[in-house]
Amino acid sequence: MTAALTPRLTAHWDEPDSFTLAGYRRAGGYRALPAALAMHPDEVIAMVKESGLRGRGGAGFPTGVKWGFIPQGDGKPHYLVVNADESEPGTCKDIPTMLANTHAVIEGAIIAAYAIRASTAFIYVRGEVLHVVRRLHHAVAEAYRAGYLGKDILGSGFDLDIVVHAGAGAYECGEETALLDSLEGYRGQPRLKPPFPAIEGLYACPTVVNNVESIASVPYIVAGGAQAFAALGTERSKGFGIFSLSGHVTTPGQYEAPLGVTLRELLSLAGGVRAGHRLKFWTPGGSSTPIFTHEHLDVPLDFESVGGAGSMLGTRALQIFDETTCVVRATLRWMEFYRHESCGKCTPCREGTYWIVQVLDELERGRGSEDDLQKLLDMCDNILGRAFCPFGDGAVSPVMSSIRHFRDEYLEHSKHGGCPFDPALSTVFPGASR
Ligand SMILES: Cc1cc2nc3c(=O)[nH]c(=O)nc-3n(C[C@H](O)[C@H](O)[C@H](O)COP(=O)(O)O)c2cc1C
Ligand code: SF4
Repeated sequence: MTAALTPRLTAHWDEPDSFTLAGYRRAGGYRALPAALAMHPDEVIAMVKESGLRGRGGAGFPTGVKWGFIPQGDGKPHYLVVNADESEPGTCKDIPTMLANTHAVIEGAIIAAYAIRASTAFIYVRGEVLHVVRRLHHAVAEAYRAGYLGKDILGSGFDLDIVVHAGAGAYECGEETALLDSLEGYRGQPRLKPPFPAIEGLYACPTVVNNVESIASVPYIVAGGAQAFAALGTERSKGFGIFSLSGHVTTPGQYEAPLGVTLRELLSLAGGVRAGHRLKFWTPGGSSTPIFTHEHLDVPLDFESVGGAGSMLGTRALQIFDETTCVVRATLRWMEFYRHESCGKCTPCREGTYWIVQVLDELERGRGSEDDLQKLLDMCDNILGRAFCPFGDGAVSPVMSSIRHFRDEYLEHSKHGGCPFDPALSTVFPGASR
């Protein structure tokens, strides 16, 4: 069976001016905003709750429920922060969304800020993607000129300023509390929770932090109706989402489909695994989610089913690896990333990621032993559930899951005194390339 795509966020990406105000309006943009402003803010929150939208930044927390946590009548400023830090290996949906559908993020942010009664919103974008930073600045300026931002938006009495803030480039700054510290000008390290950002967030005031895709989905919910959104997807994972296919796939790219679609269906739309090769392993939601194999091709890609099968939906970053890939080498590369990005605040992650890389490196070079696998699992065990923030759990996912699925391949390295995928060393895996 081939699933049908449901392009909403991605529908106009091919148009040369899709990122401009004119292009967005031509595609129906900024029709949701007057409708939302005509509603009571609580009605907007109720509508987003009814749609079933769950956070698209990885954890899947219900967006409307999060907005409802913001205390009202507390006399404090409220803030909306759009998390545009996107740095997880394999995750590549927010950056193209901001590039090609910039105003959907702006319109969604205005509606969200109105709902939570915030008069300042921030877009925290990773600074390396300068072209995205420029597009955001341009779109914000266009929105001010059109009267969608600033004082008395569309005569509603609602005021909002949006500030685009470029981060200095740290994966950990995508974690919501590290992001808030970074935004305040401190080193980007996570805060102890509770208190949660909804109670004490930016500048110790009630704050909603939402992912780019969550925010960009809001205009489509308001314009199309909560029920239309909820009609897509599965019972508990509703709506559409962007699935990013990368790696050894014929046509990599962004595929927008209802949650619950399977990798088999997505691959059939993407021309399959690259010609002449077969699927070996894949990530359902970026490198922080335990890897899957060909056995999981028919797992519905929704929060519950992926969790039930032993991984996480995460950011729907589907990295595809065929039989030419050494799983030990891929895991080592991921771990080098985590070692580099560990913020250093807590010992299990700071020290553990360093030592895992040392052991993996020896194993990949064929200088390890079977005992090293147990050593690796013990080190993972000392990080899993013991680190200060979820970074630690994510970091050990590739190690634990690759040993679970490919233990023999780890042992092959020791047996051959090197990587069996290196054509110079062995022909154990014919056709392998590095
Ligand atoms: C190490 C780490 C990195 C993260 N990076 C991002 C990110 O780049 N973008 C994002 O939206 N959420 C990221 N998150 C999740 C955020 O902490 C938070 O859950 C999310 O922004 C909430 O938005 P949502 O409810 O709309 O998904 C990260 C979490 C962790 C632990
Ligand atoms: S787990 Fe600890 S060291 Fe690692 S990123 Fe989180 S706080 Fe920093």
